[in-house]
Amino acid sequence: MRLRDCHNFHDFRRLARHRVPGPIFDYIDGGADDEVTLRRNTASFERCDLVPNVLRGVATLDMSVTIMGQKLATPFYCSPTALQRLFHHDGERAVAAAAAKYGTMFGVSSLGTVSLEELRKAHDTPQVYQFYYHRDRNLNRAMMQRAKQAGIDVMMLTVDSITGGNRERDLRTGFSIPFKLTVAGMLEFGIKPMWGINYLTHERFRLPQLDDHVDMSGGALSIGSYFTEMLDPSMNWDDVAEMVQLWSGQFCLKGIMSVADAKRAVQIGCTGIVLSNHGGRQLDGSRAAFDQLAEIVDAVGDRIDVIMDGGIQRGTHVLKALSLGAKAVGLGRAYLYPLAAAGQAGVERALGLMKAEIERGMKLMGCTSISQLSRDNLRFR
Ligand SMILES: Cc1cc2nc3c(=O)[nH]c(=O)nc-3n(C[C@H](O)[C@H](O)[C@H](O)COP(=O)(O)O)c2cc1C
Repeated sequence: MRLRDCHNFHDFRRLARHRVPGPIFDYIDGGADDEVTLRRNTASFERCDLVPNVLRGVATLDMSVTIMGQKLATPFYCSPTALQRLFHHDGERAVAAAAAKYGTMFGVSSLGTVSLEELRKAHDTPQVYQFYYHRDRNLNRAMMQRAKQAGIDVMMLTVDSITGGNRERDLRTGFSIPFKLTVAGMLEFGIKPMWGINYLTHERFRLPQLDDHVDMSGGALSIGSYFTEMLDPSMNWDDVAEMVQLWSGQFCLKGIMSVADAKRAVQIGCTGIVLSNHGGRQLDGSRAAFDQLAEIVDAVGDRIDVIMDGGIQRGTHVLKALSLGAKAVGLGRAYLYPLAAAGQAGVERALGLMKAEIERGMKLMGCTSISQLSRDNLRFR
């Protein structure tokens, strides 16, 4: 199987599975507990049907959107994800370049493997910095200052990871940073030698957003203990309100699900919220963002940009979310499998296919701009 044989999400997933060692594939692919939320995220789009209009003159169309003051040429962006250079040696460099090619936003995780400064210098496209809140308040301030200086457009605080999700696939393979693989996990690396050769022959693996603050070398601190030892489980709304003030720019909370929380986000001055269950990787049994979307849009959609992520595999999923009132959607695995499968070429192909699907879907729906999508176009079963 080659990249040119990939025509959809499932093809990229299959190719990624062929190319990267099992523990890494499972880290991307897996969710928490029984993976109920992971499955439901995509299934939720099937509860809802599109009702097209025809004969509307759709020769030219515009799918651009503006969220949190950022103009995106497509209504989807690459959501921040950790450890991308483990999936492909180009990691964030590949994802940022592909996002820039399509004129859309990309996120850099606190657990990113390329520095936010390097990516900011390389591309003009809007850049998000995904932040975790640390016990050490000075560290939080220093990291925000660094992001400000680099010219980050949107600060995105992840609020659904106050403790790590129970990812049993990772427990079985022993996936952790630094690697502490089980024997079975090691064998998986042995049968994918190309990945190992690339890993060893490219620049050393680093976490440049944290390097100055956290010693991850020599097994001193694993990502698991980063979460338990350095992040602050007592984080509350007052702390976040202070951060919003300090940042004094576009500020977004990722992982909001309840109406009450959405209203609090508006009150403390956030300019965006991402409805998200972290791709089913945190609280299993949590509702799918798509199922919760209408409630949130009705409550706060006129005061804050409501965005969603989780389970998006198709252009029609994007159209359904936008019809319900989301301003844009985030992609996770929909660009991560392509990254793992084929680096920048893979991500570019995936984003291109997603764009083409949205364009085709809009034409078939009789829409020439995103603002023409509305709940009139949807029926729930
Ligand atoms: C491998 C992987 C790593 C992730 N790392 C982060 C992260 O560091 N910070 C974060 O806020 N979200 C992270 N996420 C969640 C994504 O940003 C996004 O919310 C989720 O993947 C959307 O669901 P989807 O994969 O079904 O599209 C990660 C997701 C995956 C699959």
